[in-house]
Amino acid sequence: MGSLRLATIALFLVGSSALAQTYGVGRTPSADEIRAMDISIGPTGEELPLGRGTAKEGATLFQQKGCAGCHGKAGAGAMAPELQSNKGQDLPVWERGKGKSGWMILPLTAPYATIVWDYIHRGMPLGKEGSLTADEVYSLTAYLLFLNKVIPEDQVLDKESLPKVKMPMASDDYGRLPDWKHGAPRLAGYNH
Ligand code: HEC
Repeated sequence: MGSLRLATIALFLVGSSALAQTYGVGRTPSADEIRAMDISIGPTGEELPLGRGTAKEGATLFQQKGCAGCHGKAGAGAMAPELQSNKGQDLPVWERGKGKSGWMILPLTAPYATIVWDYIHRGMPLGKEGSLTADEVYSLTAYLLFLNKVIPEDQVLDKESLPKVKMPMASDDYGRLPDWKHGAPRLAGYNH
């Protein structure tokens, strides 16, 4: 039975590549198509475009661009995931960063601030993705980082300063597990 299934999968794989060759299914993407998809921003931020923004500008854009409609007035209290933590600063960041449904609040728990920029640029506003200018994305990122007390309100974010923002889950500690000894309790806040 197992080998029959394997043989079927193998036949399918051979068959599909033969189909592609015979019937010209698929094609090489054009340089423009590759450029349009090549928008990932790494932790060093070297791929970031020029531009700048502050939390004040971001606060206005958050209303204007419809973010508030889905995420709530200041990033909480609506249908879409919360973008602002309302928990005390004294709690560990794993606790503070957890939204209502157990969702991790990105502008607080991302290991690098460039991830927040990349997410907004690539995926928001939902339904109008790709419509924000670089300045707008810098501003909205600043606003969300400010709301979560990661940066001060007047900090200007740009290609240079954004990668230097120190996220509470400093990258060195991100995902690092404490030493485990037999009988040790689970991590605080761990979802079973
Ligand atoms: C039409 C509703 C809608 C609008 C408008 C919208 N969002 Fe979202 N947003 C969502 C949903 C839904 C998700 C969760 C997406 C998922 O899980 O795939 C999300 C996710 C996010 C996240 C990641 C949340 C996390 O903690 O992982 C950020 C950041 C974000 N949105 C920012 C924005 C900003 C900034 C704007 C305005 C420019 C915006 N959103 C506009 C619905 C919306």
